[in-house]
Amino acid sequence: MAGYIHMDVSFRLNGKDVALTNVTATTTLLDWLRINQNLTGTKEGCNEGDCGACSVMVTDENGAKALNACILFLPQLHGKAIRTVEGIAAPDGTPHAVQTEMITHHGSQCGFCTPGFIVSMATAHLNGETDHDTALAGNLCRCTGYAPIIRAAKAAETAPIPKHMHDTPPILLAKNIPGERESAGAEPPTNLDAFASWYEQNPDTTLIAGATDVGLWVTKHFTNLGQTAFLNQIPELRGMTETDEAIHVGAMTTLTELYEVIKDRHPSFAQLIQRYGSTQVRNAATIGGNVANGSPIGDGSPALIALGATLHLRKGAKVREIPIADFFIEYGKQDRAVGEFITGITIPKVADNLHCYKLSKRFDQDISAVCGCLWVEVKDDVITTARLAYGGMAGTPKRASAAEAALTNKPWNENTIRTAMEALKSDFSPLSDMRASAKYRMQTAQNMLLRLWHERNGETTSVHEVTA
Ligand SMILES: Cc1cc2nc3c(=O)[nH]c(=O)nc-3n(C[C@H](O)[C@H](O)[C@H](O)COP(=O)(O)OP(=O)(O)OC[C@H]3O[C@@H](n4cnc5c(N)ncnc54)[C@H](O)[C@@H]3O)c2cc1C
Ligand code: FES
Ligand code: FES
Repeated sequence: MAGYIHMDVSFRLNGKDVALTNVTATTTLLDWLRINQNLTGTKEGCNEGDCGACSVMVTDENGAKALNACILFLPQLHGKAIRTVEGIAAPDGTPHAVQTEMITHHGSQCGFCTPGFIVSMATAHLNGETDHDTALAGNLCRCTGYAPIIRAAKAAETAPIPKHMHDTPPILLAKNIPGERESAGAEPPTNLDAFASWYEQNPDTTLIAGATDVGLWVTKHFTNLGQTAFLNQIPELRGMTETDEAIHVGAMTTLTELYEVIKDRHPSFAQLIQRYGSTQVRNAATIGGNVANGSPIGDGSPALIALGATLHLRKGAKVREIPIADFFIEYGKQDRAVGEFITGITIPKVADNLHCYKLSKRFDQDISAVCGCLWVEVKDDVITTARLAYGGMAGTPKRASAAEAALTNKPWNENTIRTAMEALKSDFSPLSDMRASAKYRMQTAQNMLLRLWHERNGETTSVHEVTA
């Protein structure tokens, strides 16, 4: 399954089986649909996962989800079923209810965004999803305005699901898909052990998880990835296991799946995940990829650091685990040896004390300027534990050790909080960039501590409302 420049890939497209031989592994689904299939209903807007014009519905053993075709490589679709906008109406041409309602409610003007909206709406309709703001936050419309589109989605809620929308991915029909891919050398490993030893010997390979970063290297930077390995085909990297003490999630757990794991246990982390990219991005992006890229402005890492999570790494037969905070050494440098990769993350099961605050220019679908994830335990009015992890304040996601020291074993009062806010100045020297100035970053990071104080005292805070 690994080490490919070219591959054989099979999937089902709008109800028909497709078997491709020797395709370039980094061909995007969007290019293949438009150029090779002349299925031009799927639009190219941004070509970087931001606008949803290229949305397609992809069904695998875990159900149907909307994904952005522009940053999906063909091998990521292996064994799955794809439905494009051309496959949303019934085979006899009867429009889907979301199409009829978009007409009735005047949900389309220039129409460029409409195919993407239709696919997202039809996927949400299939899944019984009625939070339309969330389902459609990744679909941008420049001219119609969202109210008529949301009205159309609501009006379609109770319409029956057309039979053709229930896709069966071919992998569920036949385990042995003919025409497995051409490898760049070694016999393709089919399990974690074989992959680990293969990757140790082929460390120059580009690992591809959800491709929400790697996809852009191809579509925006025109990078030749060389030999690639698609981690979606290693089942051991997926899924979740639970013990009395901890939850273990595989590196290939998507942000959508992580949301389900975390939502009751740590609601503040769940809310942060809800503001991570869009539905389409969360359906593709994995927590392993989010940590591995070492981004100082990634949202997963500060929350996992504040939770005291453990990172599992593997190189050949050798496995090791480290506190996730220790993974980030400096900008662009992580504690990952050549030929080593992330297998999963363990999150301790403890009573919730997590407060996550994401600050970005837009509420939805935006990268953080500052992300503060604050874990503070208080017993008998004394702070017993403080883990304060920030993104956007340094070259890596980083703990605020001076502010933590200013809180630990100190009385739980506003004075202590204000001392910690002051101490934060010795923890970070943030940069000014297009997202925020250094001064703004420092002030808002400090204010996150104040917000924590107010929230823990039962006061309501809101980022939706600004009052003078
Ligand atoms: C439109 C858009 C919006 C976004 N919004 C957000 C946001 O709000 N918050 C946020 O944090 N991020 C955001 N991102 C960034 C992106 O989603 C994340 O960084 C993502 O989690 C990367 O995961 P992936 O599975 O897509 O990784 P990939 O793109 O497949 O890989 C990323 C990197 O990690 C490496 N890698 C992947 N898996 C492993 C592994 N198991 N072991 C070792 N190395 C590995 C790859 O080789 C690559 O270097 C956004 C991206 C897009 C396109
Ligand atoms: S073209 Fe904009 S998300 Fe794909
Ligand atoms: S109708 Fe023109 S962009 Fe949405």
